[in-house]
Amino acid sequence: MITLDHITKTYPVGGGLTVLDDVCLDIAQGEYLGILGPSGSGKSTMLHIMGLLDRPTSGHLAFDGRPVNALDDKELSTMRGRLVGFVFQSFHLVPQLSVSENVELPLFYQGVPRRQRRARAAKALDEVGMSPRRGHLPAQLSGGERQRTAIARALVTEPALILADEPTGNLDSRTGGDIVALLERLHGEGRTIVMITHDRDIAAQLPRVVHIRDGKLEEQ
Ligand SMILES: Nc1ncnc2c1ncn2[C@@H]1O[C@H](COP(=O)(O)OP(=O)(O)OP(=O)(O)O)[C@@H](O)[C@H]1O
Ligand SMILES: [Mg+2]
Repeated sequence: MITLDHITKTYPVGGGLTVLDDVCLDIAQGEYLGILGPSGSGKSTMLHIMGLLDRPTSGHLAFDGRPVNALDDKELSTMRGRLVGFVFQSFHLVPQLSVSENVELPLFYQGVPRRQRRARAAKALDEVGMSPRRGHLPAQLSGGERQRTAIARALVTEPALILADEPTGNLDSRTGGDIVALLERLHGEGRTIVMITHDRDIAAQLPRVVHIRDGKLEEQ
């Protein structure tokens, strides 16, 4: 479904900082892939490239065999909205909006009419068990509830790919375990998920894990 073909990323700092060095990876539809690696190893960089938030310095990226290199920023952002749902370590919820409004937001940007937005947000909130809290503000939620809201927001557009950047990083281990179990269930329902984690215990539960070391990818 997604192919990274000899991807290199060099940041223009100092004499040039190469974070990803000739990375090749194929992710099939329905996979649940973990990315493990020390801090600063390039995990987020790789996820951002996969999620069309950033461009590689060289190499090619393809979705369903369709190369994306030649797309301009506007085309990339449309494609991102359609294909990718992001979940971040720090939740990234809008503090002034209710749980339900936060989940509706990606649909609002897609120009989906209000009634449909409501209905689809309700379905996504139901999937993550957050319906009873739909009127709450983010500040009125626990960490786990915030992350479940963020997952509902990632699901609401029905993306082909869910990318989670250390979604358990700000949670205690039990709550983090709940989030991992939720992602596991979504995977079981056929969704394709890529998750970054520092946590070896979490990684050990995943069907497939790749390590980033010195810019190179090692498959486990
Ligand atoms: N926009 C940027 N400009 C310059 N250097 C950057 C930029 N973004 C990241 N880096 C550098 O690239 C390296 C990899 O960063 P990245 O965020 O991908 O690491 P990471 O594996 O996600 O780390 P962590 O586990 O701490 O989140 C780091 O050394 C970082 O300082
Ligand atoms: Mg990171």
